[in-house]
Amino acid sequence: MTGARAASSPSETPVEAGVGILIVDDDPAKLVALRSVLEPLGENIVEARSGADALRHLLKDDYAVILLDVRMPIMNGFETAELIRQRPSSELTPIIFVTALDRVETDMGRGYELGAVDFVFSPVVPAILRAKVQVFVELYRSQHELKRYRKQLQSLVQERTAALTAINRELDAFSYFLSHDVRAPLITLDGLTKSLLDGAGDKLDPDGHDQILRMRRACQQIGELFDGMQLLFSLTRGDMRREEIDVTTLASQIVEQFRANEPSRKVDVKIAEHLTVMGDSHMVEILLRNLISNAWKFTREEDEAVIEIGKETVSGETRIFIRDNGVGFDMIYAHRLFGAFQRLHSQSQFAGEGIGLASAQRIVNRHSGRIWAEGALGEGATFYFVL
Ligand SMILES: Nc1ncnc2c1ncn2[C@@H]1O[C@H](COP(=O)(O)OP(=O)(O)OP(=O)(O)O)[C@@H](O)[C@H]1O
Ligand SMILES: [Mg+2]
Repeated sequence: MTGARAASSPSETPVEAGVGILIVDDDPAKLVALRSVLEPLGENIVEARSGADALRHLLKDDYAVILLDVRMPIMNGFETAELIRQRPSSELTPIIFVTALDRVETDMGRGYELGAVDFVFSPVVPAILRAKVQVFVELYRSQHELKRYRKQLQSLVQERTAALTAINRELDAFSYFLSHDVRAPLITLDGLTKSLLDGAGDKLDPDGHDQILRMRRACQQIGELFDGMQLLFSLTRGDMRREEIDVTTLASQIVEQFRANEPSRKVDVKIAEHLTVMGDSHMVEILLRNLISNAWKFTREEDEAVIEIGKETVSGETRIFIRDNGVGFDMIYAHRLFGAFQRLHSQSQFAGEGIGLASAQRIVNRHSGRIWAEGALGEGATFYFVL
């Protein structure tokens, strides 16, 4: 085979071997002359003795450039070019017309209309012709490489999509399993312990009473864990719509809800004016709620709890932060903060499931953003995010 194969998907193979150059002339002597000019390029030079012969070659193989004699018997260069252009596989192959006629005699306008990229007039200057052909050979190689990369990328995307679809299906099945097969017996268990307490509570000794109460609490905790897991699953999928969100207003509303739930707590909350982000409103609300709820919770032991919500611009990037002066955390464990069910504080000190920051991370990921934290034990914590 002389030219690069057209029929067997040329984009799959790298063009390491010579690239095809088709030279078309009815005069064998001129073909020999052209070949000797182009041979130093080290590519595959293929000869055709007529327009029909050229079309046959083009059917089989793919060429970087065609050098086409204008004056040929039966089918001249222009007629051949017209047919070459009609075929999808060669409609974009560059054509250089080679002609012994002078510029006045040659209908260059028609040639360019037929897709000629250049005209070369005899006597040919070898170095110039070689340089021109070389340009198209390089172009062909680059296009071929690009096609190959695109194909590789497409198959990579396909593979990943298939893998993701499979994982999502498993998540769906798992989520269904949690909400039906596991939750139903849990609800029954919770109901039974409740009726046991209601019906026979006075016959139980204090220990028995306490144990049943603990069973009920455990049931509720497992139920909350399931809710958290389902929230995590739902955040990974589902549609999202970006719009401008007024973070200042949203954060104030969330803080007001926390105040209403715990009116006894005195927390100084400072929220900067005009904070906005572009994001999905439902997800951004969950994100803010989780971060504010942590700041609220982990400042519980402070006499003068302070929470600050604001923005900073560093190297042109604007980040929103939620800062508190609570118990803080050890930066050595910072990498664990955003993992599902990871907690740095004991359940007895600060209750929670360890889902809040994992959800926050997923929301930020879905927005192709970043979230990170800084803190020190006993010195509060700051959570930053960019959407
Ligand atoms: N503002 C903060 N100050 C100190 N530690 C924090 C802060 N926010 C998060 N943490 C640490 O990160 C852990 C994970 O936080 P996350 O919000 O995921 O879980 P949680 O608050 O314990 O439970 P929940 O699922 O109810 O949110 C917390 O348990 C805590 O140890
Ligand atoms: Mg939390």
